[in-house]
Amino acid sequence: MIRSVPQFISFATFLVFVLSCTTSFIATEAYDPLDPNGNITIKWDILSWTPDGYVAAVTLFNFQKYRHIQAPGWSLGWTWAKKEVIWNMVGGQATEQGDCSRFKTTLPHCCKKTPTVVDLLPGTPYNQQYTNCCKGGVLSSWVQDPENAVGSFQISVGQAGTTNKTVRLPKNFTLNTPGPGYTCARAKVVKPTKFISSDKRRVTQAMMTWNVTCTYSQILAQKTPTCCVSLSSFYNDTIVPCPKCSCGCQRNATHPGSCVEPDSPYLASVVSASNKNSYTPLVRCTAHMCPIRVHWHVKVNYKQYWRVKVTVTNFNYRMNYSDWNMVVQHPNFDNLTQIFSYNYKSITPYATINDTGMLWGIKFYNDILMQAGPLGNVQSELLFQKDEATFTFDKGWAFPRRLYFNGDNCVMPPPDAYPWLPNSGFRQYVSLLTLIMTCLSTIAVMYAYA
Ligand SMILES: *[C@@H]1O[C@H](CO)[C@@H](O)[C@H](O)[C@H]1NC(C)=O
Ligand SMILES: *[C@@H]1O[C@H](CO)[C@@H](O)[C@H](O)[C@H]1NC(C)=O
Ligand SMILES: *[C@@H]1O[C@H](CO)[C@@H](O)[C@H](O)[C@H]1NC(C)=O
Ligand SMILES: *[C@@H]1O[C@H](CO)[C@@H](O)[C@H](O)[C@H]1NC(C)=O
Ligand SMILES: *[C@@H]1O[C@H](CO)[C@@H](O)[C@H](O)[C@H]1NC(C)=O
Ligand SMILES: *[C@@H]1O[C@H](CO)[C@@H](O)[C@H](O)[C@H]1NC(C)=O
Ligand SMILES: *[C@@H]1O[C@H](CO)[C@@H](O)[C@H](O)[C@H]1NC(C)=O
Ligand SMILES: *[C@@H]1O[C@H](CO)[C@@H](O)[C@H](O)[C@H]1NC(C)=O
Ligand SMILES: *[C@@H]1O[C@H](CO)[C@@H](O)[C@H](O)[C@H]1NC(C)=O
Repeated sequence: MIRSVPQFISFATFLVFVLSCTTSFIATEAYDPLDPNGNITIKWDILSWTPDGYVAAVTLFNFQKYRHIQAPGWSLGWTWAKKEVIWNMVGGQATEQGDCSRFKTTLPHCCKKTPTVVDLLPGTPYNQQYTNCCKGGVLSSWVQDPENAVGSFQISVGQAGTTNKTVRLPKNFTLNTPGPGYTCARAKVVKPTKFISSDKRRVTQAMMTWNVTCTYSQILAQKTPTCCVSLSSFYNDTIVPCPKCSCGCQRNATHPGSCVEPDSPYLASVVSASNKNSYTPLVRCTAHMCPIRVHWHVKVNYKQYWRVKVTVTNFNYRMNYSDWNMVVQHPNFDNLTQIFSYNYKSITPYATINDTGMLWGIKFYNDILMQAGPLGNVQSELLFQKDEATFTFDKGWAFPRRLYFNGDNCVMPPPDAYPWLPNSGFRQYVSLLTLIMTCLSTIAVMYAYA
């Protein structure tokens, strides 16, 4: 009786903190603490006025540090303010022409009130190309490959304003990839862009420029997570698996197709029959049901260093992840000494804290994470230098705090399930404390930089 009272209190405290953590994370989900300013900016530069409208260069800049847009690429939509039409496009195309019956002689490229524009495919003839176009809508992330994080096309608009006083900005921009996830703000007129000639001896400028900023939210993008994290260490035999139902639960035989067994005769037919437009994952049956699992194994302890092996496994039979990337937050990233077979770049969302790194594959070696199966994994090892003041294997310190795959937050095992050192007492208490500290510091950081 006497013992159970403090236990009850600590349990209640625990609940309160878990709840407050959870709500604070939900409330701020649209805001990405590791890339607070991440956005895609769409810039319209009016290059010249025409008798009935204008010619504009439209450029998409993916300013997100680690979230890229993979095949089948972006599609950009908007609503015209008046009766504008698209006469012509270079380096992109409207998906539908719409009703152009009111035109008699020359037909416009698109007459829809709400056009949707997509990029052209690689291999487009030179005379239809435009700077930065024709990548099939794929945009790299800013850290991984800033040169390929930009896409653009040219558009000739008719039945529009012909001066900067009469032109009306398009409204209601949408950006799909191809699913939802991005919310675009209203177009805003900004200072006209200045273009510097290639020999840097002459500067020209746009007639008028407007910007649209689109930001990503994982909640909008999909209801369920897409990856999870499992943990193990040399000092404890336990392998902590991904939490059950991280990305969904196995529905049984009444719902065939929710997942497939690797040895099922059904597999080959499902995979080959999968229609090409379906980007919903077809996953191998596991307890976590995630398309992606990241395994973090604390492998070796040296005197001054320690080593981690990171394995990413693809459980999705329908997807080769090209140009995949991963973002890991761990306090020892300020002293990463060596990394094998991945590219690495430190990203510092808050100038003073250097605990986050981005990892991605090496071109032509492991930049593609193959579909589920024997080839469906990539591996790497990280070597960290110990800082004697903070380093410990205790309390799960050696495991990552947060991990993203392709920009989506991965589900971590609960802190009290982490492998622990043999004979470490007070574990319950310690993990509770860690949880509270993590929660408090996260909240503090969020408020400090909000
Ligand atoms: C978009 O990202 C760029 C580059 O990081 C940044 O300069 C700009 O302020 C961001 N815009 C918004 C509205 O957050
Ligand atoms: C329109 O152009 C005039 C000069 O041609 C300039 O003074 C004015 O600032 C421009 N207005 C806008 C909204 O860009
Ligand atoms: C904006 O676009 C969305 C989706 O395309 C549509 O549902 C909504 O009605 C549009 N709003 C306006 C004001 O056009
Ligand atoms: C508009 O977008 C361009 C390209 O991203 C950027 O250089 C410029 O600073 C933006 N202007 C404003 C006012 O946000
Ligand atoms: C599968 O579904 C049936 C009927 O809905 C149910 O009786 C059975 O217990 C389920 N099996 C499992 C393993 O969930
Ligand atoms: C993944 O790539 C391999 C080899 O290029 C190819 O055989 C396979 O069909 C691809 N899978 C998917 C789902 O695109
Ligand atoms: C962060 O740590 C990495 C790895 O040690 C180092 O390369 C990078 O320069 C550091 N960045 C800052 C801003 O301290
Ligand atoms: C890296 O570790 C060394 C050795 O412990 C330490 O002196 C140094 O301050 C650490 N560097 C950073 C950026 O923490
Ligand atoms: C390893 O860690 C688990 C918790 O994940 C714990 O239950 C187990 O007792 C630990 N093993 C040893 C030998 O301490």
